Amino acid sequence: MALEIIVGTQWGDEGKGRVVDMLSAGAAIVARYNGGDNAGHTVTVGATTFKLHLLPSGMIHPETMGVLGNGMVVNPITLLKEMEMLRQNGLEVNPGRLRLSFAAHLITPAHKALDNAQEAARGKAQLGTTGRGIGPAYTDKAARRGLRVQDMLDLEQFSQKFKAHIAEANQSLVNLYGAEPLNEQALLPEFMEYARQLQPYVDDTGGLVHHALTGGKRVLAEGAQGTLLDLDLGTYPYVTSSSPLASAALSGLGLGAIPVGRVVGVTKAFQTRVGAGPFPTEVFGEDADRLRGSGSKPWDEFGTTTGRPRRVGWLDGVLLRYAIRINGVTEQVITKMDILSGLPVQRICVAYRAGGKIFENLPMGPADLSPFEAVYEDLPGWDADLTGVRSWEDLPAEARHYVRRIEEISGAPVRYVSVGPEREQVVEKTS
Ligand code: GDP
Ligand code: IMO
Ligand code: MG
Repeated sequence: MALEIIVGTQWGDEGKGRVVDMLSAGAAIVARYNGGDNAGHTVTVGATTFKLHLLPSGMIHPETMGVLGNGMVVNPITLLKEMEMLRQNGLEVNPGRLRLSFAAHLITPAHKALDNAQEAARGKAQLGTTGRGIGPAYTDKAARRGLRVQDMLDLEQFSQKFKAHIAEANQSLVNLYGAEPLNEQALLPEFMEYARQLQPYVDDTGGLVHHALTGGKRVLAEGAQGTLLDLDLGTYPYVTSSSPLASAALSGLGLGAIPVGRVVGVTKAFQTRVGAGPFPTEVFGEDADRLRGSGSKPWDEFGTTTGRPRRVGWLDGVLLRYAIRINGVTEQVITKMDILSGLPVQRICVAYRAGGKIFENLPMGPADLSPFEAVYEDLPGWDADLTGVRSWEDLPAEARHYVRRIEEISGAPVRYVSVGPEREQVVEKTS
């Protein structure tokens, strides 16, 4: 079978969790390939809402195995807590249901302390990271001094490496940032215990996924973060430290340049961003309050991982077109269409203006968007509540028109439109 990849086309929180949940029914494996517990993927099943930071959303299906790929950075504390959370919800979590790549890197309290110290040192130029230690863990990986999952297999060596890691991090914490050092003696027994508990889950997950695919089984790759947070091609430096792109699914799962069957781009019907960085279609005031919600509903725009209010704005067609291209998106799912009900007009940014010129595409990627001003197309709004709609024909004509314009502007077809967080609140686009 060809690999299926699901990615976010914006700045994250597009609704990847719920889309993966929807598409993974019957899949043998769902695998995360990038990032760590900076991700927050929400899946609502009846009265239960799962907030997953590390485990793939597909694991909510009892027959599906979860894989954490080599491209990830894994905080063992979060992982063990999340495994327990699934168990408490009646789902089995054992090595038959979950595997952890030997080559994934570990996040320790030292990485979190460094993340926070580095953010504080940036002062006004803060990136607004999630504080989960993601940047420092990938820094250690690139500097070839990281702790890897494989290191946990030999406890004696692990204890040496762990102590050396904390000692090295303490030098930076104390000497560069004037922060408190960590107590390695206090942390070590705790981490030895995590290592013991996780050992049975360690595997050559690339081999496992390869074997599943060649055996005709369905495997889904679940992206974390969003395209515009890509380390290379996003709004650098306001990005994360990994690649959320579809292309990274292959390297991040330890696969070759194998066939990819579909790349599903998850696109929220409007734009949001949590953390600092450029946002040409950002809105403020009443429109913003409306898009964001007050925080009383679980899906209101407040970060799943940090609780911060998300910045909100109109759909940015220029950035979406770019995201579709650099991921090779073959089909889109538009989420949160229900939230747009009641707005008198729906705005989509179709181009940028700079120096009297119109740009339909970015001349040089999205890192410096300061010269650009959004050029909008206004479409008629609709009042009807969409949350009960289940067929394409039953959507208001204006909503169907909005979806068709997204297809035209972005260049990728829309397959589904979601109208609420529940499993059944989805409409297949049939014409
Ligand atoms: P992810 O990081 O891409 O998985 O997205 P998050 O889970 O962080 O944020 C998406 C939020 O929107 C979650 O609370 C979802 O339950 C919710 N959600 C997803 N699709 C819809 C939808 O169509 N309508 C509404 N109202 N909420 C949705
Ligand atoms: P999901 O998978 C939204 C943002 C942070 C910050 C920047 C860098 O739920 O879509 P980091 O902690 O990664 O070093 O922070 O990236 N960010 C996300 N924003 N959704 C996410 O994940 C995010 N993961 C990181 O807010 O701006
Ligand atoms: Mg999220």
